[in-house]
Amino acid sequence: MAAPVVDAEYLRQVDRARRDLRALIASKGCAPIMLRLAWHDAGTYDAKTKTGGANGSIRHEEEYSHGSNAGLKIAIDLLEPIKGKHPKITYADLYELAGVVAVEVTGGPTIDFVPGRRDSSVCLREGRLPDAKKGAPHLRDIFYRMGLADKDIVALSGGHTLDEDAFFKDYAESHKKLSELGSTPRSGGTASAKSDGPTVATLAQSAFGLAAAAAVVIAGYL
Ligand code: HEM
Repeated sequence: MAAPVVDAEYLRQVDRARRDLRALIASKGCAPIMLRLAWHDAGTYDAKTKTGGANGSIRHEEEYSHGSNAGLKIAIDLLEPIKGKHPKITYADLYELAGVVAVEVTGGPTIDFVPGRRDSSVCLREGRLPDAKKGAPHLRDIFYRMGLADKDIVALSGGHTLDEDAFFKDYAESHKKLSELGSTPRSGGTASAKSDGPTVATLAQSAFGLAAAAAVVIAGYL
């Protein structure tokens, strides 16, 4: 598989694609699904065998039809016209650029984007992405396999803030508990360890409990 040549024309197309992505994401309000597409394409990476990773393989039905990728065909289809307009850009670069622009458009940090990813048609078997039903040790296994660390689990789980309604509901509950630690709550509600709120186990089953699961990982790490 030859490496794509990132020449001056390629870089020009990346700049133009970036502008098109900003417009698309702002007009369709599709930042969360774009970020998820970028993550699911990249998150199959195995650092030991150097297989998977950000290689555009998720564009193939064999991979986007994995249960873990449910819904991502919408993002793939939304990006196809941009690929058509800027054909030099690999799918792998386009999907990662879409993730970076999604974070920027929603007020996140500017992320250094270095083009040059190669496309692959090799779709790996399902099971490389984290399973939200499993706990902290599983998250660690998956992220370590990718060559990432505990700090990355916590930081990247912040990606869920792009789906604000779901994330902030869980965040508000957890923050309320935090703010009332060691005190007697005056208002009704769920402020103590006796809370009827979600347990770590049930939180781990929710994508938006990930921040909590990640916090457990870090607590164990320190
Ligand atoms: C740490 C392990 C992770 C697990 C177990 C996980 C799991 C999930 C699950 C189950 C969903 C809900 C999918 C659905 O609605 O059908 C979700 C949504 C989402 N995830 Fe994750 N995720 C993880 C990490 C990440 C990372 C690293 C990112 C990005 C940096 C990310 C970005 C997102 C986004 C943006 C959504 C919302 C997608 C949308 O609303 O269309 N996730 N995640």
